Amino acid sequence: MNVIITGANGQLGRELQQIKSEKLTIHAFSSSQLNITDLEQAEAIISNIKPEFIINAAAYTAVDNAESNSQDAFAVNTKGVENLANICKKTNAKLIHISTDFVFDGSKSTPYKITDEPMPLGVYGASKLQGENIIREILPKSSCIIRTAWVYSMYGNNFVKTMLRLMQEKDVLSVVCDQVGTPTWASGLANTIWKLVLTKAELPTLLHWTDNGVTTWYDFAVSIQELALEKGLITKDIPIKAIPSSDYPTPAKRPNFSVLDKTEVEQVLGKKTIHWRKQLSAMLDQLKDRS
Ligand SMILES: NC(=O)c1ccc[n+]([C@@H]2O[C@H](COP(=O)([O-])OP(=O)(O)OC[C@H]3O[C@@H](n4cnc5c(N)ncnc54)[C@H](OP(=O)(O)O)[C@@H]3O)[C@@H](O)[C@H]2O)c1
Repeated sequence: MNVIITGANGQLGRELQQIKSEKLTIHAFSSSQLNITDLEQAEAIISNIKPEFIINAAAYTAVDNAESNSQDAFAVNTKGVENLANICKKTNAKLIHISTDFVFDGSKSTPYKITDEPMPLGVYGASKLQGENIIREILPKSSCIIRTAWVYSMYGNNFVKTMLRLMQEKDVLSVVCDQVGTPTWASGLANTIWKLVLTKAELPTLLHWTDNGVTTWYDFAVSIQELALEKGLITKDIPIKAIPSSDYPTPAKRPNFSVLDKTEVEQVLGKKTIHWRKQLSAMLDQLKDRS
């Protein structure tokens, strides 16, 4: 089965290539090889390969920059996604697309269900939500949108790698303690995507996927430190201070609570997602092995 991955050099794109199944022929394209905002280029490449699936791991993910560069965010996360959906329709390919917890405003205090009304707080979330809506319009029966959150991986820039660096460089760290969510190892998400590609069952149109459990950025940082010290990835045991978001202003407002309810994905896969701390430990082992 032919499968195209867009955004191949991103965190998810790289993890998808790491754990691909032998049953699949993967064609992975970085942004410089296949720019999803370039309809003509994307169509030429995709029509030539005639994939059964396109996994769109390409996105404008700079949440804070999006506030001042909304044109760029919408160009990739909305127009680029529209291009892919139209090409999928023409070529009969199914689209697996990744979206975000940032489509929600965080006003709930129980996990967000797939039926909950999105209400993005910023440009990034709005551009991703418009992308979702366009896919549903163009490919109502042959697409699957997977919302995820707090993604990290040994590849690219992310919270885990930033914390590890700062824990070595600084004498004290301050991390926000009033945003609640669930970290997600991109490798686990990639695994789920491949299971969906290989399942014979009909694709669900919308799923929520994160690792299991609930935490804050502060507790996540504390766990990163504990596990990294245990594994010898860092040597300093610096104090970590819990601070409110108001002490760490960012251009984009973030949801205070963005835990996603994973009932549907657990039904489809027939098992529970793995707890985020166990996944964090596995990622840190991988980082250690490859360093
Ligand atoms: N990271 C998170 O915490 C998080 C949370 C929730 C949801 N998500 C979603 O999960 C998905 C994967 O995220 P990620 O963390 O893997 O993102 P990432 O590491 O930032 O990777 C995104 C990739 O998309 C590529 N890209 C950007 N514009 C493109 C274009 N016009 N055409 C083709 N490729 C383009 C980028 O290429 P360049 O490097 O060349 O720009 C980059 O390699 C995204 O849909 C994101 O919205 C992420």
